[in-house]
Amino acid sequence: MTADPRPYWLANRPVAPNGDLTVHDKYTREPIARVALADAAAVDQAIAAAHAARGPMQALPPDARRDVLEHCVGRFREREEELAQLLCAEAGKPIRDARGEVTRLIDTFREAAAEATRIGGEVLELQISPRTRGYRGMTKRVPVGVCGLITPFNFPLNLVAHKVAPAIAAGCPFVLKPAEKTPLGALLIAEVLAETDLPTGAFSVLPCTPDEASAIVEDDRIALLSFTGGPVGWDLKARAGRKKVVLELGGNAACIVDADPGVPLDRVVERLVLGAYYQSGQSCISVQRILVHRSLIDELRPRLVEAVSTLCMGDPRDEATFVGPMIDEAAAQRVESWIDEACAGGATRLVGGPRDRHLLPPALLENVPHEAKLQRCEAFGPVAVLEPFNEFDAALNAVNDSAFGLQAGVFTGRLEHAMRAWDRLVVGGVIVGDVPSFRVDTMPYGGVKASGLGREGVRYAIEDMTESRLLVIRDP
Ligand code: SIN
Repeated sequence: MTADPRPYWLANRPVAPNGDLTVHDKYTREPIARVALADAAAVDQAIAAAHAARGPMQALPPDARRDVLEHCVGRFREREEELAQLLCAEAGKPIRDARGEVTRLIDTFREAAAEATRIGGEVLELQISPRTRGYRGMTKRVPVGVCGLITPFNFPLNLVAHKVAPAIAAGCPFVLKPAEKTPLGALLIAEVLAETDLPTGAFSVLPCTPDEASAIVEDDRIALLSFTGGPVGWDLKARAGRKKVVLELGGNAACIVDADPGVPLDRVVERLVLGAYYQSGQSCISVQRILVHRSLIDELRPRLVEAVSTLCMGDPRDEATFVGPMIDEAAAQRVESWIDEACAGGATRLVGGPRDRHLLPPALLENVPHEAKLQRCEAFGPVAVLEPFNEFDAALNAVNDSAFGLQAGVFTGRLEHAMRAWDRLVVGGVIVGDVPSFRVDTMPYGGVKASGLGREGVRYAIEDMTESRLLVIRDP
């Protein structure tokens, strides 16, 4: 742990008026850093500076925005292992997953750099009747203005990248509040941004409490609010006034394994286990409900049980570790209590075991009652439920029998089933031949129903962060 507190970034500059936020190693639970905590006055200053930076950011030519993003790509590559170790410590993310996230951070910035020079418009045919002869129309996209960004603890680098990099590509200044439990990744991104020539006020990264951050949600100088997190997102939307709002709020993702899964069962098992238990299930698209055709369940069950029982749990720094700690003991306790609730209601625990403080062994359950929290709510932990189905349409109905709709996975060898799933599943994305946890950082990503509003994925975020401006010209 360093003696001096790490600064927050206010209008492109490091500021450390205090060291009030202590960040812990999520495995050892030792303090690893003290960080300056921003108050409401700092948030207000950041918004004012960002508001003043709208013009300079808009005037920054696309190639200059691209160069800023490319600078970040280069620096992240140079600091790749440092970033992975930081992530491993502050999030408790197993080192192999942490390295994967750094790779994705680099991809996201690289793709945003490329998109910065491709933000186009269209030429419109306006001559639709004698009245409109001689008129031409065209549109271009202009930045919306200041973006207020709020990010969660589970991907402290890449989910920050998904908001910050498109904002820069679009020409929007931003004020970011990273998760209080994992602010270090975002602060390192800010440190790298400070090496560039972004106009003053273009960025602020302010670890702070939700109360101190309320202006990010409510202040009218902010044009767009982009939030990734839990159901509280809907309350934020209600307080956001006239802002555009983008919400990514998670789900209880399901994966169907059809009678003919289309790939060998070994592959299905490998992907289900990865999808359900990577980074202790702390992902919005982690596999929570596994729906298996009845003809396969007796074969799949023991294979899953064996694969889950042999997952290595422990120190995330250990290269062999697959399941690290949960973000804190309270989270592990909550998920354990949901497992207990399901078992008390008649569920069978096929794999799992007692919690050791913040370490929760991966669990797989069957016969989980329909109303149990493990079926109805987002577990966000290393647990999945197994359930048979008889007809493919019944499996589709079961996937849709959820308040959420982020992504769904379908293993099927039948094209008509794949297409029916795409037609009928009420989700943001259907992944055929793999688990719902699959994500490429350029694809449109987001949900329907309680899972959120709008789409991320570099190009789609840029669309939200810009708006169309029309030009009409009458021939002289
Ligand atoms: C999330 O948890 O929403 C992000 C998942 C991912 O980017 O893989």
